[in-house]
Amino acid sequence: SRIEEQKLRQPIVVVMGHVDHGKTTLLDKIRGTSVAKREPGEITQHVGASVVPSRVIEQLAEPLKKIIPVKLKIPGLLFIDTPGHELFMNMRRIGGAISDFSILVVDIIEGFKEQTVESLQLLRARKVPFLVAANKIDKIPGWKPYPNEAFINSYAKQSQRTKELLDERIYHLMGELGRYGFNSDRFDRIKDFTRTVSIVPVSAKTGEGIPELLAMLAGLSQQYLKDRLIFTSGNAKGVVLEVKEMPGLGNTIDVIIYDGILRKGDTIVLGSAEGPIVTKVRNLLMPKPLQEIRSPEDKFLSVDEVVAAVGVKIVAPDLDNAVAGTQLYVANTPEEIEDAKNKILEE
Ligand code: GTP
Ligand code: MG
Repeated sequence: SRIEEQKLRQPIVVVMGHVDHGKTTLLDKIRGTSVAKREPGEITQHVGASVVPSRVIEQLAEPLKKIIPVKLKIPGLLFIDTPGHELFMNMRRIGGAISDFSILVVDIIEGFKEQTVESLQLLRARKVPFLVAANKIDKIPGWKPYPNEAFINSYAKQSQRTKELLDERIYHLMGELGRYGFNSDRFDRIKDFTRTVSIVPVSAKTGEGIPELLAMLAGLSQQYLKDRLIFTSGNAKGVVLEVKEMPGLGNTIDVIIYDGILRKGDTIVLGSAEGPIVTKVRNLLMPKPLQEIRSPEDKFLSVDEVVAAVGVKIVAPDLDNAVAGTQLYVANTPEEIEDAKNKILEE
């Protein structure tokens, strides 16, 4: 079909969950894996996000081919972290709004907590598909760690008692999810992924289960989100994650571009407390690879254009009142500007 031939962008995967359940550690582990397998010139670190290329996911998922067959058409996965502290509801709300797919991280020992429920309700309200990463399996009594192994391989090597303890915890999570109207099961026991939320046991500390987590994310998002991921080369659309003052640059905005192409010199329209802002992109900044950073002021690389999905820092005048969470549109004609302003006012 025609859709088959179209270029797909990376799904935006937002990590949500209760404070201290291991979201950041999990992303660090995933990023570490990806950086270790980085090809020269490949940018995997974005502003406010990181990307795992499909090449890396396919390598990691190779031993799982029989259980999770993935041939990837998406170019990779773009991950965004959110804080779990109760004060950061706004960040989680923005996360929910830009998420194509989400990982709900739950500490397998602690189970559901306040912000687990809050995150689940945000995902449900926005109909965001998600899976549950049942994290910290290395804390299950008797667990013997097999660093970076697939969960199923590591699980097979645990004692009967430890397997039972893990499964009890999974049943407990299934019960919690059931209370909020979700059918769920351990990922390797699911027959119909359209009706059942996958629970993937992982350890962000040992890396166990990361191969399955990435394979499931890539496989599910590619299969069920295809229409949503078709890349169009038109005017960029994005969401502002953060407004930041930068020494020497004034106010800048960190933006996730989810469609189109953004270029230096483009006119952008975005929301502020005082109504829409119309301004021109003066510079686009991407993080430099770690080994190329010479000084603390030298963290960014100036680029002429970026292509969705991407996290980028935009330098432009008149951003003083910009607000996190607003949509951002490229608009290069008077008609497009009017149109974009109206969309911002409708938010
Ligand atoms: P917030 O951003 O504050 O919401 O927390 P978070 O969800 O990002 O948790 P974070 O990654 O900061 O981890 C919290 C603590 O749990 C840290 O001390 C981690 O080292 C620890 N931790 C995270 N994942 C694991 C895991 O898989 N196993 C064990 N044993 N500890 C973990
Ligand atoms: Mg964190």
